[in-house]
Amino acid sequence: MARASMRAVDSERLKSHPELSFSFGPYTYGLITNNGRSLLSVTRGSETATKNLEWALGDGTFGQSYVYREKGKYYEAQLSLYTALNGLDITTGHSRALPQSIEMAAGGYTSPATIRQCFGCHFTAATTNDRFDPDQSTMGVTCEACHGPGAEHVALMSSGMVDAKGSMMNPAKLNPADSVDFCGACHRTSADAVLQGLSKMGAINVRLQPYRLQKSRCWGKGDARLTCVACHDPHNKIARDAEFYDSKCLGCHRQSPSTKAAANRPGRACRVSTRGCVTCHMPKIEVPEAHSTFTDHWIRTARQGEPYPE
Ligand code: HEC
Ligand code: HEC
Ligand code: HEC
Ligand code: HEC
Ligand code: HEC
Ligand code: HEC
Repeated sequence: MARASMRAVDSERLKSHPELSFSFGPYTYGLITNNGRSLLSVTRGSETATKNLEWALGDGTFGQSYVYREKGKYYEAQLSLYTALNGLDITTGHSRALPQSIEMAAGGYTSPATIRQCFGCHFTAATTNDRFDPDQSTMGVTCEACHGPGAEHVALMSSGMVDAKGSMMNPAKLNPADSVDFCGACHRTSADAVLQGLSKMGAINVRLQPYRLQKSRCWGKGDARLTCVACHDPHNKIARDAEFYDSKCLGCHRQSPSTKAAANRPGRACRVSTRGCVTCHMPKIEVPEAHSTFTDHWIRTARQGEPYPE
């Protein structure tokens, strides 16, 4: 998460793709990174618009998006770099209708409230004392974003993870539901999913891990063995080896039907396998518009060919 944002010119993804191109209807794009600048240009006939991309958001596990500003206004570039495509495509969430002007073809105006939120989740301390100033922010999600003076962190503040004096809650002392909501300040809570209508948006909501996890029968009323930090150490890289997670599941599930039931091990045994639990029970879901596959945190028996359960 430390690399959740950076200056566009510091992006390893852009440095390794110094010349990118794309076309969409009558618009031809170029994204050139060199000499300490990342310039996005769009051409249609004799018209050209060129934007100096300032920030890159996302370390590019799935993709990376870009933000530029002009006359104090912020814009999200129309194109993002997708890792699976090894190239550009329309930014996830942007309309795929033909832009009406060359300016709109370059990027979408992003309201002050939206840009605050965007920087609130991807940067540290972009807003201090209610003043949004990205030039004073620290790139990425740093120690301070989770442990620092809470009142300065939009995402955590709006999720109630800050006490009346403006200090951040100690995340090690939270109960299971609050611990998940703590991560949900940026990964979005179950309440956010419902309030923002995301619970009814199909497979895109697979990105809302707290919401999906809390739908699992495993979750029940909450148990510290199934919080985000039970499986992910926010101080380290995510584990990509499926078997790493087996011990987490087996903390609650019996290894074999012959194992005796115990009060602290309420989960039944699997009759199909004793390892690699997540490969079958946390399926990877393809989100076409994001050109990526995400892990469904709704732990369940997924049946081949079944529709995605919202
Ligand atoms: C201040 C916002 C914020 C908070 C709070 C936060 N995250 Fe994240 N997290 C992000 C962003 C942004 C990304 C995307 C980073 C990227 O890939 O560019 C991310 C990515 C991740 C990833 C993907 C793997 C990786 O290393 O890139 C994991 C796992 C993760 N977060 C777990 C957690 C857990 C667990 C918590 C709670 C302890 C948490 N996050 C709290 C913002 C946050
Ligand atoms: C509520 C917090 C939040 C807001 C607001 C937010 N993001 Fe994110 N973003 C995340 C988290 C958490 C992840 C990692 C999990 C995921 O990929 O869904 C992420 C992932 C991403 C990724 C993919 C990163 C990768 O490594 O592949 C991109 C690109 C991105 N965000 C761009 C943006 C942009 C641009 C904005 C603002 C216009 C924005 N985000 C607003 C929390 C947020
Ligand atoms: C994404 C949020 C996040 C980030 C970023 C983060 N931490 Fe943490 N940190 C946590 C959570 C959550 C816990 C509690 C973990 C648990 O309960 O297992 C924690 C626990 C700790 C603890 C143990 C505290 C205790 O009382 O037991 C220390 C020390 C710590 N973090 C230091 C750091 C440092 C130093 C950094 C930056 C390099 C950092 N953290 C970055 C979320 C974060
Ligand atoms: C905090 C304890 C806990 C953890 C950790 C846990 N589970 Fe569960 N899980 C349960 C309980 C309790 C049930 C309901 C009783 C049962 O079906 O065994 C359940 C149910 C299930 C079911 C049946 C789901 C359904 O909808 O009928 C599957 C499959 C499952 N768990 C797999 C897993 C896997 C895989 C992991 C690890 C990724 C895991 N569980 C982690 C407690 C847990
Ligand atoms: C039972 C274990 C478990 C729990 C609990 C869990 N995760 Fe995960 N998570 C995984 C696995 C497994 C992956 C996929 C790792 C891989 O193969 O890349 C994953 C992947 C992710 C990713 C990377 C994006 C993706 O979709 O692959 C993010 C972000 C993430 N988890 C956030 C969270 C957050 C936030 C929580 C708390 C709501 C959470 N996780 C709880 C097991 C867990
Ligand atoms: C190869 C895929 C696969 C793997 C790996 C796997 N499971 Fe399963 N699991 C299944 C299938 C399929 C079912 C449904 C079986 C049925 O309906 O008879 C199931 C059923 C379950 C159930 C419900 C049991 C019941 O009595 O209904 C639980 C709990 C469970 N698995 C947990 C786990 C755990 C924990 C692991 C890792 C130790 C694991 N599974 C590994 C495929 C798998």
